[in-house]
Amino acid sequence: MRRLRRYGWSRRLVAENRLHPADLILPLFVLEGRGRREPVPSMPGVERLSVDLLPAVAERCLELGIPALALFPVTPPERKSEAGEEAWNPDNLVCRAMRHLKDRLPEIGLIGDVALDPYTTHGQDGIVRDGVVVNDETLTALARQAVCLAAAGCDVVAPSDMMDGRIGAVRGALDEAGFDGTLVLSYAAKYASAFYGPFRDAVGSASALGAADKKTYQMDPANSAEAVREAALDIAEAADMLMVKPGLPYLDVIRILKDSFRMPTFAYHVSGEYAMIKAAAERGWLDGAACMDEALLSIKRAGADAILTYAALEVAARLRERG
Ligand code: PBG
Repeated sequence: MRRLRRYGWSRRLVAENRLHPADLILPLFVLEGRGRREPVPSMPGVERLSVDLLPAVAERCLELGIPALALFPVTPPERKSEAGEEAWNPDNLVCRAMRHLKDRLPEIGLIGDVALDPYTTHGQDGIVRDGVVVNDETLTALARQAVCLAAAGCDVVAPSDMMDGRIGAVRGALDEAGFDGTLVLSYAAKYASAFYGPFRDAVGSASALGAADKKTYQMDPANSAEAVREAALDIAEAADMLMVKPGLPYLDVIRILKDSFRMPTFAYHVSGEYAMIKAAAERGWLDGAACMDEALLSIKRAGADAILTYAALEVAARLRERG
């Protein structure tokens, strides 16, 4: 076995998987205001940016070969409400960001999250009645949110809310509104994970959510057969692509979905996964660049076609350097 491992050139020839900038999607946090950039303390190297600063980042992505961005709004607290109506305000922050980018750089793909948590005072992804996140009423809200995003220039709507029947509801509403070309990326297997912590800090939903959790709709980390059922339902409801989230702790789920359905399958290397590597690297305990590359390559090896990662720019820049 070691003969093939002896030289760099022979290792490269027999490598079964590789990272490529075209497999990466950069998530961005969007702020109100102009000329504003705020570092996210729990995510070293990540900044929240106002809308006017987004095109420069998008241009850098295009230069490096990163095909798409995923936008997440930092909603000012005064725009949040019990039912999250701001989600379908055509002039909300994320819609303004979509339009701004689409007008200037139509060639970059734009992905928008469909879920109410940036807009609800309680921080849940759905509408709450008597302490319960209600399913079907939430579907109506999600469908309106998705149409609103599509109208603003969003190419891919990504329901991340884990309500039952959301893909069908969103697809139906998009088609009815004339957005039959808008893609649906389903967070088919989204787990009730503690690795979302830094993200919730970044968008300011952590304080809204408080001690509550999302276990009545996001999946139990103990389960993988259930992920197959979730994905089958989403495919039947016309999802174009599937996503597994988080990434590294759920490599088995990526593999089982890819093998079961042969669908375009994405993975979200989430905020906590990013933060762990950065924090250890800051202390000099790990080689941050090498660990980041290895983590993302492992996600590809597990069967992911594309990866959402906060490290997209640095990884793409390293890939270019290496040639
Ligand atoms: C919101 C949403 C979350 C993430 C993406 N969309 C957080 C959550 O479900 O609480 C997490 C992403 C990350 O941690 O990087 N529905």
